[in-house]
Amino acid sequence: MARKKKETSTDIRSLIATRRDGGVHSRADLDLLANAAADGSAPDYQLAAWLMAAYLKPLSDAETADFTLAMAGSGQRLDLSGVPRPWVDKHSTGGVGDKTTLVLAPLLAACGLSVVKMSGRGLGITGGTLDKLKAIPGMTTEIEPAAMIEQAKKIGIVLAGQTADLAPADKTLYSLRDVTETVSSLPLIVGSILSKKIAGGAETVVLDVKCGSGSFNPTREHAEKLADALVTVGKKAGLNVYAAITDMEQPLGRSIGNALEVQEAIEVLSKPEDQLGSTSKRFRELVRYLAALTLRVSGLSPSAGDALERVEATLTSGRALRKAQEWVEAQGATVRLDDPSWLVRAPEIVTVNAAVSGCVSKVDARILGEIALELGAGRKTKDDEIDLSVGLEVLVKIGDFVTEGQPLITIHAKDAKGVQFAQDRIGFAVSVVSTPVPPRPILVRPA
Ligand code: URA
Repeated sequence: MARKKKETSTDIRSLIATRRDGGVHSRADLDLLANAAADGSAPDYQLAAWLMAAYLKPLSDAETADFTLAMAGSGQRLDLSGVPRPWVDKHSTGGVGDKTTLVLAPLLAACGLSVVKMSGRGLGITGGTLDKLKAIPGMTTEIEPAAMIEQAKKIGIVLAGQTADLAPADKTLYSLRDVTETVSSLPLIVGSILSKKIAGGAETVVLDVKCGSGSFNPTREHAEKLADALVTVGKKAGLNVYAAITDMEQPLGRSIGNALEVQEAIEVLSKPEDQLGSTSKRFRELVRYLAALTLRVSGLSPSAGDALERVEATLTSGRALRKAQEWVEAQGATVRLDDPSWLVRAPEIVTVNAAVSGCVSKVDARILGEIALELGAGRKTKDDEIDLSVGLEVLVKIGDFVTEGQPLITIHAKDAKGVQFAQDRIGFAVSVVSTPVPPRPILVRPA
C-alpha cells in the first residue's frame, strides 16, 4: 500500500506539472486523479495544487467530459436497468425559495417518467430539498441504493440524500475547492454537477440554471456560459441534457423557508391556478415549463403543445398530488398532504404592508434570502441547525400594482427580535414606485 501511495504521488506530481504548463490530460490521467481523490491515496496538498492549476489553466470541453466521467466512475453507479424508462433527473443551480423539485418530481412521475433523484442540504441563501423534506413528519431521505431502485420500480419516484459512495472524488475535490478559492472554475463546476447525475443513473437531465441576485450567477452572461458548458460537456459525456436559464432576481414563488415552502408546494399541487396568489402563479409557470420540457425531451410527448396539455391535466386532475402522497408515504411520511395542518408554524407571524400605492419595482432575492437565513431558515456553516418553521412569505412580485396598506411580506420568526430584524431590512429589499414597471419573465432563456 505504501508503495502504491508513492507511485500515485509521483503520477499526481506529473499531472500537476501538465496542468500548470497548459498541457492536455488524457482520460487515463483523469481516472488516476479521480480515483486517487476518492481512495485517499493522493494527499490533499497535491489535489489542491492540481485544482489551482486547473483553475488557472481551465480544462477544455473534451477534458471536462473525461473529468466528469472519471469522477462519476470513482464510486458506485446506480443501476436503474430494472426501472421503467425514461429515467430522468433535474437539477437546479440553486436559488432563494426554490422548491421546484417538490412539485416537479411527483408531477413527472405521475406523467409516467421514472424520477430517481439525489438532493443536497442547503447552504447560505440557497435552500436544499433535503431540508425542506424534513418539514414532512416521518419522511426519510436516508435510503440505501437497493431500496431506492425498488421504490423507483414500484412507484416511479424516489428522492434520497447523496450516498457516500456516489462520485466520492467530487466529495473530496469539492471540499478542497471550498477552501482554495477554486469553486468558481466553470469546468470544475460542470464536472461536479454532471458527475453526480451520471453516477445517479440518469439518462435525461433537465438543468435549471438560475440567474440573478439570489443565485451564484449574478449576470446573464455568467449563467449562459454555465448553461452552455453543462450542455456541451453533458452531451460529450453521453447524457441527454438540456439547460434552461430562469430568473432569480426575485425569489421563486411565495415562500422562503422550509415548512413554508412545503406548504406552497402542496398548494401548487392541489389548487387550480386561479386560486393561487401572484407569486405562486409565477412558480407554477416555471414548474409547468420544466415539466413540459422534460416530457418532450425524454420522448414522452411528441410536441410542446401535447406536453403542456399533459402537464396541466396531471396537475388539475389531482394525479400529481396523489403521486406526491404515494411518494412521501413510501419514504415514511405519516401525514396527509391534502390536510397540511401538521406543518410547523413559527410563533411570531407579522405582515409588512405597503407604505404607498404604486407598482412594485424591486423584490430582491438576495436580501430576502439573507433575512430568511438570519431568521434561522438556512445554514451559514455546514453544521448549523435550521429552524423549519421560520421564513418569509413574499406576496408581491415585480410589476404588481399595490395600494397603500396592502400586505407585501409576511415574516415568520421565532421571537420578537427576529421580527424586528426582518422589519428593519425589508425596506431595502422591496420598492414601490409611482410609474408602471414591466414584470420579469420567469424564463430568461429556454432550453
Ligand atoms: N453544485 C455542485 O454540485 N458542484 C459545484 O461545483 C457547484 C454547484
